Amino acid sequence: MNRNPINQKNIDQAKSKIQQLKNQFEQRKQLANALEPIKTKIGVYSGKGGVGKTSVTINLALSLNNLGYQTGIFDVDIDCPNVTKALGINIKPTVDEQDKMIPPEQHGIKVMSMGFFQKNEDEAIIFRGPMIHNAINQLLSGTNWENIDILLVDLPPGTSDAPLTVMQTLDLDGFVVVTTPQELAKLDAIRSINMIKKLNHNIYGVIENFTGEFFGTGAGQEISKNMEIDFLGNIQMRKSYSEPSTIAYLEDLEANHEYNKISNNLVQKLK
Ligand SMILES: Nc1ncnc2c1ncn2[C@@H]1O[C@H](COP(=O)(O)OP(=O)(O)O)[C@@H](O)[C@H]1O
Ligand SMILES: [Mg+2]
Repeated sequence: MNRNPINQKNIDQAKSKIQQLKNQFEQRKQLANALEPIKTKIGVYSGKGGVGKTSVTINLALSLNNLGYQTGIFDVDIDCPNVTKALGINIKPTVDEQDKMIPPEQHGIKVMSMGFFQKNEDEAIIFRGPMIHNAINQLLSGTNWENIDILLVDLPPGTSDAPLTVMQTLDLDGFVVVTTPQELAKLDAIRSINMIKKLNHNIYGVIENFTGEFFGTGAGQEISKNMEIDFLGNIQMRKSYSEPSTIAYLEDLEANHEYNKISNNLVQKLK
């Protein structure tokens, strides 16, 4: 008796599976081609929102640029894509002859963001896992990433489905984890670090933001010691960060020094 009859249904299923695999392969090839010019992709990540992830992404990008590394930003904080607003970018991407989007540039930093595709900035972007995967793939594949040494990726915070999907879609070279000195932020940061480790990704180090008399200090160094990862530096809590029209790295000499120290430490890790 023939236990595996070859009927039309089985043939169709097999054909459709092959087509699916072909599409996936094609998608991956396109993505790899689009990302080929970028030398290093670094995720900026935190256990929760509001710890200064976007602020670190922007100021670190400026500092790395200043060291001579052409730096770009990819903003995939799905719920809160704030990079364009924080950098004061009011224009949308244009397209080149190959129909690839050209990321708008501000202070020498090229930026691509989910935020460009919101109809208005108050609107929530509601994405589920497979949609996140497809949207990121399209955005990355459809962008002209020429002349970028380092791409900083502003990731969704936490350990939910969104950051997980983003991490699995984007083949990042490593992560920088941002924490604040508070006990709860520390716990969240530890959870995030454990997730990155579980995914077998590389961590370049921890940055402590909001250091100062209000929240204290030490969490960043403690995490790095306990979890055997590098400490990249402290960023003091300063008034210069709350001015929406200015960027601390460009306006505040002490903030500038703090970021230069961090980016020097980071660059050492990249070598
Ligand atoms: N070191 C700092 N001192 C003072 N304010 C800061 C500092 N870092 C960030 N901020 C401010 O805190 C708020 C949250 O920062 P943001 O970068 O948007 O956090 P996240 O991206 O993690 O949600 C912003 O208004 C930002 O300007
Ligand atoms: Mg943010």
